[in-house]
Amino acid sequence: MAINLHGRSLLALDDLSSVEIKFLLDMAKDLKAAKRGGFERPRLNGKNIALIFEKDSTRTRSGFEVAAHDQGAHVTYMGPSGSHIGMSETVKDTARVLGRMFDAIEFRGFAQEDVETLAHHAGVPVYNGLTDVSHPTQILADFMTMREFTHKHLSDIRFAFMGDGHNNMAKSLAVGAAKMGMDFTIGAPAARWPEAEFAAHVAKIAATTGAKINYEVDPQAAVKGADFIYTDVWLSMGEDTARWGERIELLKPYQVNTALMAATQNPFTKFMHCLPSFHNAETKIGKEIEARFGLSAMEVTDEVFESPASIVFEQAENRVHSIKAILIATLG
Ligand code: CP
Ligand code: NVA
Repeated sequence: MAINLHGRSLLALDDLSSVEIKFLLDMAKDLKAAKRGGFERPRLNGKNIALIFEKDSTRTRSGFEVAAHDQGAHVTYMGPSGSHIGMSETVKDTARVLGRMFDAIEFRGFAQEDVETLAHHAGVPVYNGLTDVSHPTQILADFMTMREFTHKHLSDIRFAFMGDGHNNMAKSLAVGAAKMGMDFTIGAPAARWPEAEFAAHVAKIAATTGAKINYEVDPQAAVKGADFIYTDVWLSMGEDTARWGERIELLKPYQVNTALMAATQNPFTKFMHCLPSFHNAETKIGKEIEARFGLSAMEVTDEVFESPASIVFEQAENRVHSIKAILIATLG
């Protein structure tokens, strides 16, 4: 079957079939080799890409900017206070303006409906750079990284996401795992499992691929036999910071520490995190949390984060190669 992603948007991982995901992962691998080998060919000369960020970003912004520049495209960055979007101009009007100026639009924001509205009215491809419920470009980098650190096919991989099983990362990983036929467990208290409607949606995909999507309250049971343990912050961007106390209390048992890594009973388990991470108290928020709650690390200990098992910076680098694959496939 010929694969043609030209002109397509990526609003959620649901937009891609498993064959299309594999195609993008293969392309990202080739692009990484080409960049490293010094034989990359620019295929986006003269293209203009708008980058809208209602929330801050290090990796996603840099990933889009570097990928675009490597390929000869230009970007315009509009940060959380850098445009009228949502304040004095509707998302629909912004879409119709930017769609006439740009060849594609990346959007990071709060509501999934906003990225959908943009795509509906812009007339050019729109990429979701993270919303409250979804972070599809991150998953491509994560699966690309998994492929680099195991000889297994994706469909033979077992992995666990520990902590806030209700957030955008847990949900996007679940959709990705279901599509790729993986064995995936969300290790979280039931209060932080995805909602039933979402679980039913993922189960429906899994039924077509042979994936196993599990939900487990017991942290040790959740990670048993895992090839990868993944975690993310306990409070996501945009959530009420008054919730830190309750979230810490709820998720402390799911912290990825040396004991939890050992509970996989697999000496080769790798540690993954989309980043940024609270693995020490050296950031402004990390210091505040330490002062208020006496915790020097949250979702992962510094020991695990800095250990040889940690592949978090490989994941971060792979954001650029996988985003580049999306840009070329949809625009090139
Ligand atoms: N993982 C990720 O999306 O990081 P940024 O928030 O820095 O873009
Ligand atoms: N769950 C995190 C992911 C950051 C990449 C957040 O939304 O803040």
